[in-house]
Amino acid sequence: MFGQINSVGLFGMNAFPVTTEINAYKGIADFRIVGLADASVQESRQRIFSALANTKITLENKTFVFNLTPASVKKAGSSYDLAILTSMLAVQEVIKVDLTRAAFFGEVSLGGGVNPVLGALSMAIEAKRNGMEELFLPYDNAAEASVVAGLKVYGVENVLQLYRLLTGAMPIKPHKTYVPEQPAYHGLADFADVKGQENVKLALTIAAAGFHNLLMLGPPGTGKSMLAKRLPSVLPAMTFAESIETTQVHSVAGVLDKNAPLVVNRPFRPVSHTASAAGLVGGSGIPRPGEVSLAHNGVLFLDELPEFDRRTLETLRQPVENREIVISRATGSVRYPCNFMLVAAMNPCPCGNFGHPAKQCTCSPMAVSRYLGKISQPVLDRIDIQIEVNPVSYNEISGEEPTPGSKGESSAEIRRKVERARAVQEARYRSLGEKGAGVFTNADIPPSLLAEVCVMEDSARELIKNVFDKLGMSARAYDRILKVARTAADLDGAELITKKHLSMAISYRSLDRKYWNGG
Ligand SMILES: Nc1ncnc2c1ncn2[C@@H]1O[C@H](COP(=O)(O)OP(=O)(O)OP(=O)(O)O)[C@@H](O)[C@H]1O
Ligand SMILES: [Mg+2]
Ligand SMILES: [Zn+2]
Repeated sequence: MFGQINSVGLFGMNAFPVTTEINAYKGIADFRIVGLADASVQESRQRIFSALANTKITLENKTFVFNLTPASVKKAGSSYDLAILTSMLAVQEVIKVDLTRAAFFGEVSLGGGVNPVLGALSMAIEAKRNGMEELFLPYDNAAEASVVAGLKVYGVENVLQLYRLLTGAMPIKPHKTYVPEQPAYHGLADFADVKGQENVKLALTIAAAGFHNLLMLGPPGTGKSMLAKRLPSVLPAMTFAESIETTQVHSVAGVLDKNAPLVVNRPFRPVSHTASAAGLVGGSGIPRPGEVSLAHNGVLFLDELPEFDRRTLETLRQPVENREIVISRATGSVRYPCNFMLVAAMNPCPCGNFGHPAKQCTCSPMAVSRYLGKISQPVLDRIDIQIEVNPVSYNEISGEEPTPGSKGESSAEIRRKVERARAVQEARYRSLGEKGAGVFTNADIPPSLLAEVCVMEDSARELIKNVFDKLGMSARAYDRILKVARTAADLDGAELITKKHLSMAISYRSLDRKYWNGG
């Protein structure tokens, strides 16, 4: 008896179609899998026979040969169990439903249960792309897969339920289709709680609007961590496509919330300074996504930046630049997206008071430079906005006297500005057609578009020319200043970059000189 059942394989985040072919006949019990299936796939034999025995399903045919096609692609993991088991039922001729456009994946447990697998969303998307109309998968993965429109998703809890469903003994309803949710901003920490620090809030607003990397530097207790934690409250809502991609990463990493099928809030991932390079950028045995990828379409927050291992920080250079990470293994290379906004905070010296208006720094110049030296120039170069966070005055913190010009804006107000500036950017890059393809925010502007997109007023052009010569600015710094100035102008709804926008962007690069280069 020959039969075949559709399945889906996964490598990293890439899913691919797999067909489980089966040849079975009566005879002595045997079970063989070919098609580059590794040891973890071969072990399905034990899981499946035990599950069938515990479910009291008896088989007529007892000799089984399986071929997982395409036979030239390596297969690993336990997610083929469900397709293999279903093919065994198919050759007993007990299945009453048409499975030509149905795909199966999931892990079978010894007791007869069906366990969830990682990466179900990517596999469901692939099943749909490959023309499948129905998907049978572990119950705990059903919500996640229900996000894929046009696919009937059946979540099965155990082998018996699957058997009854396929034999027509007890049909079950497909999982209810996912209705897109709005991101939940309520409950997030609000900028209204932060007294004063208007210049830092403005820098954060610009960073959020253009998706620029940002570093806050200042003495202890000035609110750096407090300010960073409030960023998610002003980031624009994710698009559906962004949600899907972020969810795919979280699904492969196994960090998805079972009750929230789709990640609708932009991730905010604080990373501990004890994190390993593999934890940060991904890797180890089976290459799993690292923090940079879990932060995809959101924020990666590195608090107390100099506490990080210098080599660990250096591993960030490539993903920050490329917005994706490639992890190479003998079995092939895995690619994960990592389009994140890097936000970092640090003290200016070990005691924290270097440059403090009132307190005395007790560190030796050597200690200060060693401390700052933990952050290399190439890492600093990749941070578009660097800002000093100074202690707030008594009047600001006590609220006795409103600071002149202080608006004490709420996160909702700031977010509206950010969203408006994002809309300006999206419209601009869309209007550029082919040239603007793949560019969504000012942080993404490729060098080839810089001159066309960042048009300055004459006075602004004069200013950057002077500054460039006087400060011996690098080409990379120049590019980044223009991008930040573009965002400042977009927040103002200005077509041309003015001197004001440009000065602000230049000032955001001045810490670099003040602290790192002979300051
Ligand atoms: N501008 C502010 N408005 C209101 N509260 C503030 C402000 N700045 C600091 N605080 C209070 O001080 C606490 C400490 O701030 P936070 O932890 O953010 O400082 P930090 O700059 O990160 O310090 P460190 O360098 O030690 O990490 C905050 O939790 C908050 O209660
Ligand atoms: Mg802090
Ligand atoms: Zn000090």
